[in-house]
Amino acid sequence: MITRTRTPFQRTRRTRRSAALRGLVRETRVDPAQLVYPLFVTHGLDVRAPIASMPGQARLSSDQLAREAEELRALGVRAVLLFGIPVAKDAAGSEGYAADGIVPQAIRALKDADPELAVIVDVCLCEYTDHGHCGLLDARGDVDNDASLELLARAAVTYAEAGADVIAPSDMMDGRVGALRDALDDAGHETLPIMAYSAKYASAFYGPFREAADSAPRMGAGDRRGYQMDPANAREALREVAADVAEQADIVMVKPALAYLDVIREVRAATALPLAAYNVSGEYAMVKAAAAQGWLDERAIVLETLTAIRRAGADIVITYHAKEAARWLTER
Ligand code: PBG
Repeated sequence: MITRTRTPFQRTRRTRRSAALRGLVRETRVDPAQLVYPLFVTHGLDVRAPIASMPGQARLSSDQLAREAEELRALGVRAVLLFGIPVAKDAAGSEGYAADGIVPQAIRALKDADPELAVIVDVCLCEYTDHGHCGLLDARGDVDNDASLELLARAAVTYAEAGADVIAPSDMMDGRVGALRDALDDAGHETLPIMAYSAKYASAFYGPFREAADSAPRMGAGDRRGYQMDPANAREALREVAADVAEQADIVMVKPALAYLDVIREVRAATALPLAAYNVSGEYAMVKAAAAQGWLDERAIVLETLTAIRRAGADIVITYHAKEAARWLTER
């Protein structure tokens, strides 16, 4: 019987022997205060319209937001990311920057319900345009970068006036962080932070979101590959981040998260800014679908996933799982 090998080896199992020891040596933790819960807001009263491809998520009318705020506070989730669904869409996405639009209404409802909740607001035109692109289209049907900046800046200022705590541009136009920063400063909002969707990829993982926001691109270039990043590129993500840092972004983001953990890791090494990762709708839908079949242990999968995103280097995780994860984290 061999009791010892002659070759020395490490007994790494020693610190795995009990939950207490594992807790001491654990390198990464997930805290509900690091999670951001996305919310889809729609016009109307008493609306909680389920989103078929995102089980557990719904489009909510503003009157439902106080209930959400209360629930999030109890769970220790302290931030939301707002998306608006307008009454009507048009070529210029006008409800996106209207002072009485759905998003300003929702911001006020949330701040009334809980002034301490961090209300992060997505800035983009795709939810508001009838063609579904993230900016204005020119005569050829291409997205006109510089003309779009002006409208995005108007949206940012509108949300700031309504009481937003963080402005989060997701449109991927060049120069948008600087344009929004200038517009916010000019309007007296120099203390309002910008969370830039810096490395946002042209991803099929956004499919369910586009159902939720009814924002699939319909005209011109039929997809977003002309402005969102090519999934094949990682070095380019560092250029995007550097550009946003130079334009005074306060938080940068990598999106999606799971197929891009390497990008999260590289961005983490390249900047000292806080880094967010977006665990997107398709990632959520896959887990929900498999869990519904009984093929995966949902709780274990979600906690492992969020831990992995944090381990890769994200400080902040935007996730539709935020509420259930916060519940599981506190009872564990
Ligand atoms: C808006 C926007 C999108 C998402 C966040 N902001 C959709 C897109 O770019 O097509 C996706 C979020 C998700 O899939 O959960 N531009």
